[in-house]
Amino acid sequence: MHEQRLTRRNLLTGGAVTAAVGALAACSPGRAAQTTSAAATRQPDAQPDVPTGKTVEPFHGEHQAGVATLPQTYAAFVAFDLKPGVDREAMGRMMRLLTDDARRLTSGTGALADTEPHLAEFPARLTITFGFGPGMFEKAGLEKQRPASVKELPKFPIDRLEKRWSGGDLLIQICSDDAVTLAHALRMTVKDARSFGTVRWIQRGFRRPPHVQAATLTQRNLMGQLDGTVNPKPGTPEFDRAVWVSDGPEWFRGGTTLVLRRIRMELETWDKVDPVAREFTIGRRLSDGAPLTGNAEHDEPDFEKTTPAGLPVIGEYAHIRRAHVADPALRIFRRAYNYDDGLSEDGVADSGLLFASYQADIDRQFLPIQRRLAEADLLNDWTTPIGSAVFAIPPGCREGGWIGETLLA
Ligand code: HEM
Repeated sequence: MHEQRLTRRNLLTGGAVTAAVGALAACSPGRAAQTTSAAATRQPDAQPDVPTGKTVEPFHGEHQAGVATLPQTYAAFVAFDLKPGVDREAMGRMMRLLTDDARRLTSGTGALADTEPHLAEFPARLTITFGFGPGMFEKAGLEKQRPASVKELPKFPIDRLEKRWSGGDLLIQICSDDAVTLAHALRMTVKDARSFGTVRWIQRGFRRPPHVQAATLTQRNLMGQLDGTVNPKPGTPEFDRAVWVSDGPEWFRGGTTLVLRRIRMELETWDKVDPVAREFTIGRRLSDGAPLTGNAEHDEPDFEKTTPAGLPVIGEYAHIRRAHVADPALRIFRRAYNYDDGLSEDGVADSGLLFASYQADIDRQFLPIQRRLAEADLLNDWTTPIGSAVFAIPPGCREGGWIGETLLA
């Protein structure tokens, strides 16, 4: 197969799947740490007061990391189209290889045959999360195993989707509080994935770092709004019910789904909107995110409250009214990142939101909200969806296992 020509692949597989499995099993992170030169040249004590550089997010577990994980500062989402001829067996090899990379890198160890292992020394809460797009199931001959809601979304009238930001068979989502670590992890994983697929798109996002604003506080998006107030809280039964899959195909239990929408913000026209209209658009105050009917960010909005003139205080088409879901089990989990991809010649920003929505079932949870918003939402005047992709995020794996094994093994 084409990937056998690659040196890193040969190093791992020796041309045989069984050899690859053996090699991976023998290379636990602990052992690798003892044998790489990185260990000998580490200087962990040189920076005793750096709070997050050495922090490790556990890789193994029932669920993949990078979903319930407190959002890190930087994110990169990379999608691949699998090459012709990459079948189920090849996908299995790819996922073993990528899992091994992820396991090592997230623990602060270089990937196998890493030429710059020092760049892995500060994981800074690095997570590497994998997703399977609809095309992956088809190419693997596993259509029957595809979770029913993991399919291209219907077209919405507000969409101006561009192919360069949409679709994909395989997703690698990499998040870290350190941009250097992220760049290295990206290069290492892409190096392995590209034997099996071609890069379809990459999207990069950012949030405020934890040394600037406590990571537990709601952040502002680039329109200046507090964004993320009403969201299931990781670690609660409501979150577990809304996000993790507990029915459908057996292999997918403990997984979730991701809808990634690239939504451009029309900041030039938003700039011209006065503060009252801005607040009315969302239904919340700009200063502290409180609902227009309340005093503090986490006050319950009162959708029934009217002005003396009899008009609703939170407008009929305010974003929070249209997006609100009363049943906690039917909510989506938003883990969004800002993007800011430079300026046009006349100085106009290309910015917006990488709207990452995780939910157990896209049809049941995401789509009804998106339909309502596409139908009527004041925010639509200043936001344009330009990219759209959906992925099944398989469950996590135990030590020695690999992501996707419940489907591909
Ligand atoms: C650039 C596009 C968007 C911006 C700037 C935006 C901004 C906001 C803001 C400021 C809030 C209020 C604070 C909060 O609870 O987070 C909010 C709430 C929310 N948004 Fe968006 N949003 C966008 C797109 C979307 C999309 C595409 C969806 C789903 C399809 C969505 C779903 C929600 C939900 C479920 C809430 C909570 C509603 C509630 O109070 O129950 N948003 N959004």
